[in-house]
Amino acid sequence: MKYFESKYGYFTDGGKEYVITNPKTPRPWVNVISNGDYSIIASHTGSGYSWRGNAGQNRITRLYQDLIKDNWGKYIYIRDVESGEYWSAAWKPVMSNYQHYEVVHGIGYTIYKHKVNDIYSEMKVYVSVDAPVEFMHLTFRNDGDRVRKIDVTSFFEWVLGNFPDEHREFHKLFIDPSFKSNTIFVRKYLGQFPDEKGRWNNTDWDHVAFHSVNIPVKSFTCDKESFIGMYADERNPIAMTLPKLDSKCDRFGDASASLQVELTLEPGEEKEVVFTIGAAKIGEEDAEQLASEYTNIQRAKEEFSKVKDFWTELLEKELVETPDIGLNIMTNYWARYQAISGRIWAKSGYYQVSAGYGFRDQLQDSQIFLSLNPELAKKQILLHAAHQFQEGDVLHWWFTIRGGGPRTHCSDDLLWLPFITQEYIKETLDYSILDEIVPFVDGGNATLYEHCKRAIEKAFKRFSPRGLPLIGENDWNDGMNAVGTEWKGESIWLAHFMYLLLKEFITTIEMKNDVTFAKKCKDTMETLRDSVNKFAWDGEWFIRATKDNGEKVGSKENDEGFIFLNAQTWAVISDITDEERKKMAMESVKKYLLRDYGALLLYPAYTKPRSDIGYITRYAPGLRENGGVYTHAATWAVWAYALIRDAEAVYKSYKGICPPYRSYDIDNYWAEPYVTCGNSDGPISPYYGRGGWTWYTGSAQWLHRVATHWILGIRPNYGYLDIDPVIPSDWEGFTYKRFFGDTLYVITVKNPNKVSHGVKEIIFDGQKVQRVPILTDGKSHTVEVTLG
Ligand code: GLC
Repeated sequence: MKYFESKYGYFTDGGKEYVITNPKTPRPWVNVISNGDYSIIASHTGSGYSWRGNAGQNRITRLYQDLIKDNWGKYIYIRDVESGEYWSAAWKPVMSNYQHYEVVHGIGYTIYKHKVNDIYSEMKVYVSVDAPVEFMHLTFRNDGDRVRKIDVTSFFEWVLGNFPDEHREFHKLFIDPSFKSNTIFVRKYLGQFPDEKGRWNNTDWDHVAFHSVNIPVKSFTCDKESFIGMYADERNPIAMTLPKLDSKCDRFGDASASLQVELTLEPGEEKEVVFTIGAAKIGEEDAEQLASEYTNIQRAKEEFSKVKDFWTELLEKELVETPDIGLNIMTNYWARYQAISGRIWAKSGYYQVSAGYGFRDQLQDSQIFLSLNPELAKKQILLHAAHQFQEGDVLHWWFTIRGGGPRTHCSDDLLWLPFITQEYIKETLDYSILDEIVPFVDGGNATLYEHCKRAIEKAFKRFSPRGLPLIGENDWNDGMNAVGTEWKGESIWLAHFMYLLLKEFITTIEMKNDVTFAKKCKDTMETLRDSVNKFAWDGEWFIRATKDNGEKVGSKENDEGFIFLNAQTWAVISDITDEERKKMAMESVKKYLLRDYGALLLYPAYTKPRSDIGYITRYAPGLRENGGVYTHAATWAVWAYALIRDAEAVYKSYKGICPPYRSYDIDNYWAEPYVTCGNSDGPISPYYGRGGWTWYTGSAQWLHRVATHWILGIRPNYGYLDIDPVIPSDWEGFTYKRFFGDTLYVITVKNPNKVSHGVKEIIFDGQKVQRVPILTDGKSHTVEVTLG
């Protein structure tokens, strides 16, 4: 069954796979595949690269960001030995005419199916679930009626660590390749980190990389010039005009890796070849052993099934089935896969190479684990807590290899720690997380509760005389980085956020009997509520901030940027204001911000750089945070509309950013229809609706969360399951299946009276109940809900 078919492809296998049938998609449509340690990006043309641990700090193969070429990869060439004609296993790099081309992006793998000159090839690309090894598992079939002899040749370039491309001439001097039993090994004698005495440029890269093939090679080379030739390129490398590779392997060229094997195929015959690439940590793993253990057909097959099983088992802990196939596909598979594989594990996308974790970013992302494996959420929370200073503030982001990062004057990042911790407790009831002892980044340690408290106490010190939080260098919107650098300007969004945080976290504070602190928090809540309603209401919506000089941002007094989304959505989400203002604010969102492709972050976009506001105004008008749809924030509109029960707006704001729906105007969207984009262009851009910066975006987790928690309305709430859907009234119902540990809940919601919200009756295991308890008895429970 095909879903959301466009001229470039469609979803299949219940939405688990996306098939691309036309290699000329508007932009590279990629897969970010990771096992949490070793990662690769595979584009639909066959380009991409590999890294271990960190895409910036520990890259294995080379990719240089060129936005219109997509021409770096780990390529496989196929050559008819008799005629000399050659092509590639993926469309790139040779880009030949084909009889068939199809790319399947799946959860944890990509498959390239190509047929040229009657040779059908299938190349599965994936990463072992628990070893630093990637596979290119090829199957060839002779679809012609004569015997064919082909050779198969790999080619890619090494990076090996943190290797700025503009200094390749320098760095190549340290690379040392060698060849042994079908395998190229490669070391680099310059690591990017200092030795134990703090001295630079005198250590080795701490890995050995390898590239191997499962059958004896005909020839090989470790030299880029031998393969490509001085005045040729990947599309027509000199090596494809020579009978074999020159088997050169020394330290005096520009290191690359190519292995060549030869096959004879009878008509109808099929043969398989397995190539691997990997990197072994010196002193912990053995490259030779990894290469020999993993580079064979049986192991490759086993590893592929392990990949599929791993993801199925993880993701199918929670499944929804609604009349909206786009919502099902994103909620069940792609949004979670994107958040886990792309954001938390690979930490990179095609458009943004990250060298670290953002303090607030992966904390929010970690909520994706709550319904799948809460232990992983806990691990992430504790990791972030360990990047807090004793004073309560945090590293805005940090390098994931060897740490270190900027200590900024950002005003909100620290508060996400108690916020997400509380969400974790609300969903798991695991209060023991609060007693975990976690170090501070500047020494000493304390319980997680203390970490959370210090974050809040630090934020309490940053208030204006009017009782509003100061924005500092920036709040959630990093690019509003000039509004309040003198610590005078205020953030209204932060006031909303803090209000909600305190409202939620007070449960924990009271449970801890922390009486004085509880009082302080309650008083602050009151102050926040009073001040926001007194100073931040602008008549029809809330202003976004005030500048150091007291002028308003996001107010009708402004010509540009007169309304901001977050200041409205979070006023509702936090419950800081009365119903009338909530409704008015969200009506203003409808009037100015909610468009066909989701809610804009602000309106109208800034058309000139504003040194008093910050770099959001320096983006081209309509792009990213400057008046585009910033998908992360656009998901919060779904949440806010659900709270005010505006079902039509809920659905409109969701569908606009639900990627499969963009298949219908795909040439306008450009981006992958199976993962969320970081942003899409706002109406002022000539490319209104164009998606950008896919994969590496915090919107994936939130898109999943607003679908389950706020559209389907199923929310674990301290041991109970709140059920409160806000759905299109023409839905006949939906089902939601989810495990809590080993206890299964199957929830069926029926909508006989065609309403959009309002629960009439709940039957839990055959008994009518007011609330559904979350049991952990290892059994299976049914919940039947009737709306009306
Ligand atoms: C980027 C940052 C994120 C921030 C957002 C809005 O995505 O990583 O932390 O909240 O921009 O500016």
